[in-house]
Amino acid sequence: MCGIVGYTGKAKASPFLMEGLKRLEYRGYDSAGIALSDKGIEIHRAKGKIDNLRQKLPRELKQTCGIGHTRWATHGKPSEANAHPHRSQDGKVALIHNGIIENYASLRTELIELGFEMKSETDTEVLAHLIQKCYKGDLEAAVREVLGLVTGAYGIAVMHENEPGRIVAAKMGSPLIIGLGTGENYLASDRTALMGHTQNVVILEDGEMAVIDPDEVRFSTIEAEALDPQVTELKDEVERIEKGEFPHFMLKEIFEQPRTISDSFAGRLLSEEGTAHLGGLDNVIDRLMECDRIILTACGTSWHAALVGEYMLEEYLRIPVEVEYASEFRYRNPVVDENTAVIAISQSGETADTLAAMKEAKRKGALVLGICNRVGSAIARESHGGVYIHAGPEIGVASTKAFTSQLVVLTLLTIKLARIRSMGFSEGKNLVDELRGLPDKVEQVLKGAKEIERISQMLAPHHNALYLGRGLAFPVALEGALKLKEISYIHAEGYPAAEMKHGPIALIDENMPVIVIAPSDDNYEKVISNLQEVRARSGKTIVIATQADTKLQELADEVIQIPHSHPILSPILSSIPLQLISYYVAVARGCDVDQPRNLAKSVTVE
Ligand code: M6R
Repeated sequence: MCGIVGYTGKAKASPFLMEGLKRLEYRGYDSAGIALSDKGIEIHRAKGKIDNLRQKLPRELKQTCGIGHTRWATHGKPSEANAHPHRSQDGKVALIHNGIIENYASLRTELIELGFEMKSETDTEVLAHLIQKCYKGDLEAAVREVLGLVTGAYGIAVMHENEPGRIVAAKMGSPLIIGLGTGENYLASDRTALMGHTQNVVILEDGEMAVIDPDEVRFSTIEAEALDPQVTELKDEVERIEKGEFPHFMLKEIFEQPRTISDSFAGRLLSEEGTAHLGGLDNVIDRLMECDRIILTACGTSWHAALVGEYMLEEYLRIPVEVEYASEFRYRNPVVDENTAVIAISQSGETADTLAAMKEAKRKGALVLGICNRVGSAIARESHGGVYIHAGPEIGVASTKAFTSQLVVLTLLTIKLARIRSMGFSEGKNLVDELRGLPDKVEQVLKGAKEIERISQMLAPHHNALYLGRGLAFPVALEGALKLKEISYIHAEGYPAAEMKHGPIALIDENMPVIVIAPSDDNYEKVISNLQEVRARSGKTIVIATQADTKLQELADEVIQIPHSHPILSPILSSIPLQLISYYVAVARGCDVDQPRNLAKSVTVE
């Protein structure tokens, strides 16, 4: 969703701002803009891509302080007028904002009654006018006063013409990071924008503000209590946010999986004890083992990972495990108490619904854990303990490597907890060894990419597709369908294979491609029966299978073979051909793979 960048120092601000906005493109946006301050404030904005903004910029931009924004429309359509930065009526204040001001309608009415003229349909513009109204020579004080008037979520950055070189930032709900340099300082909503510029960052917490000057940053609460900043070091991962030789980030990230999977278990496999070491759980393990129920909560792809986790944890721990959409969890007064462990799963660590679900679970006394990718993210900080998946920055909007790493970590968690409970050494050791061998098997699947590209062309002309799987393959079917619809805009549904005959079978004819996930497990024969049912109705089938025997070859239009593995690891292997299928179909249909329409990488609004 929306992105924020800011710079103040001795260098020209616009190169950092434009590069930063480009790096934040992956979050999803529909317009962009920058404001530069020197003797006055200059604003440039454009609808659409960053390149549209770049074309509008004058050649010479000498200002050494500025803020920039990519907008993902919430209030008001994508347009130049609604793009940030917004200006106050007197033109002296420039402001960018991520989040939603919930009471903006009443504030807007009050401002209009006072004679302010609204130039946009956004909730944000009121903040700029309010700051003008409260400004008495001190921007920090004016921002503080205005934040006392608003409710909702925000990450804001503000400049005032009378205070050149200064940016005032504040956070409530939406992420903001301050980058510390020498004689220059930075601001961003996402660490990706700061990589290669500074490694020392301060992550603002809700209710905190920063006054950023070239030689100093002062931190305080919105209530004006001075704060000592906690500086953390940003691991420089610039090469991991470049596409390299790949045409798209999504393809690069799919091909990175042998490495990201092994990064997820690196240092965590204890072969001699047949278990896993997860240091982030050390402080909570006793309490976790006392819990009599686990709730996994997440959104989108992470929710599909949770469904796989449910099968694994319940199977091996023999305690009830449920999966909840985070967006529903907090609104339905769930039954949660101090004996419940709520585990939130999130790639970004920023998803507003997931964060809200965690807060609700904490309020009810649950043990709250996080499985996320982004180190130091809001979700990581909200957890009592947790496990990072270490997949590295994921830039493609469609989640791929984060999904497989989430499954690896859920497997590690299952092994660790089951070994404490009832799993024997040899079963634990077998799983640990299987995990160790997984990257090579993933490599084998990726070697078939050319063939998968050929098979994918069969799907490209269609408007619908059905994905079927049983047991652990059902969440994989859901994930395969989500990937296809997200980036190729083909309507796709995932179904438990046995449910097909209770309704969706009515859809099957020669125009309905059906992708069947059929690894060799206890469900194999049953899934093959479902495949027969599809074939009998002329459906076109692509089967992901561990054994491409003659029977299967005769039944399916196409078979994609994956290596044999322990059943709980087969979701990782079978999801990779599905990722490749969606990628190649999207490319064949000419879609914008890395930035699909209407989607945001981090969904920071509820
Ligand atoms: O960052 P999170 O894992 O919390 O994000 C959750 C979903 O928004 C995300 O998985 C979304 O469904 C992706 N676009 C899937 O590819």
